[in-house]
Amino acid sequence: MTRRVYLFKGFERFWHWAQAALIVFMLVSGFEVHGSYRLLGFARAVQLHTLAAWVLIGLWVFAIFWHLTTGEWRQYVPTTDKIVAMVRFYAVGIFKGDPHPFKPTSLHKHNPLQRLAYLLALVVIGPLIWISGALYLFYGDWGALGLANLPLAWVAWAHTAGAFLMLSFLIAHLYLITTGHSLTSQLRSMITGWEEVA
Ligand code: HEM
Repeated sequence: MTRRVYLFKGFERFWHWAQAALIVFMLVSGFEVHGSYRLLGFARAVQLHTLAAWVLIGLWVFAIFWHLTTGEWRQYVPTTDKIVAMVRFYAVGIFKGDPHPFKPTSLHKHNPLQRLAYLLALVVIGPLIWISGALYLFYGDWGALGLANLPLAWVAWAHTAGAFLMLSFLIAHLYLITTGHSLTSQLRSMITGWEEVA
C-alpha cells in the first residue's frame, strides 16, 4: 500500500534544478580552467565560469532568504533519531530488500543522513567554494584588501578541493536518489513535488 505526499514546493524544485545545472556547469568549466581537458577554450571557460558564479551566488542568496522566511531551514537541523537505522539500511538492509526506515512527510522531508549531508554541503563545501572563488576573482585587489601576503596557491588548492568535494557529493547524491520507494520515485518527486511512499 503506497500513499502520495506533497514534499517539494514550486520554488524548491526551481532552486534545486537551477542549482544542479549551474553546479554541473561550474564543474565542467572549472576543471577546464584547472587544465584537465579542453572544451570551450581556457579564456572562454574562465569568462563563463565567472559569469555563472555570480548567477549561482545570486541563487544561493535567494534560496537562503526563502528558507529563513518560510521556516524550511528547520528541515536541515541535524537529528540522531533513526540515524543508526539509516546507516544499517544503506550498508546492509538495502541489499536484502528491507523496508526503508524513514518515511518522509512535509514536515520531515529528509532522512537524518540527508540532513547531515545537506548541512555539510551548506556550511562546509559551499563556503569553501565561494570564499576561495571570491578571493580568486578579486586577486587583483589583494594589495588593497591587505591580503598581499596570502599565497595564491592556497586559494587555488582550497577552491579545487571544494570542487572535488562537490563532485563527490554529486556522485553520492545521484546514487542515493535511486534508493527511494522505487528507482525513480525520489527523482520524480523533485519534478512533480509529489513522492510515492510505501
Ligand atoms: C560548484 C561550484 C564551483 C566549482 C565546482 C568550481 C570549480 C573550479 C575549478 C576546478 C577551478 C580551477 C581551479 C584551479 O585550477 O586553480 C575554478 C577556478 C575558478 N573559479 Fe570556480 N568553482 C565553483 C564556484 C565558483 C564561484 C562561486 C566563484 C566565484 C565567487 C568561482 C570563481 C572562480 C575563479 C575566479 C577561478 C579562476 C579562474 C582563473 O584562473 O582566472 N568559482 N573553479
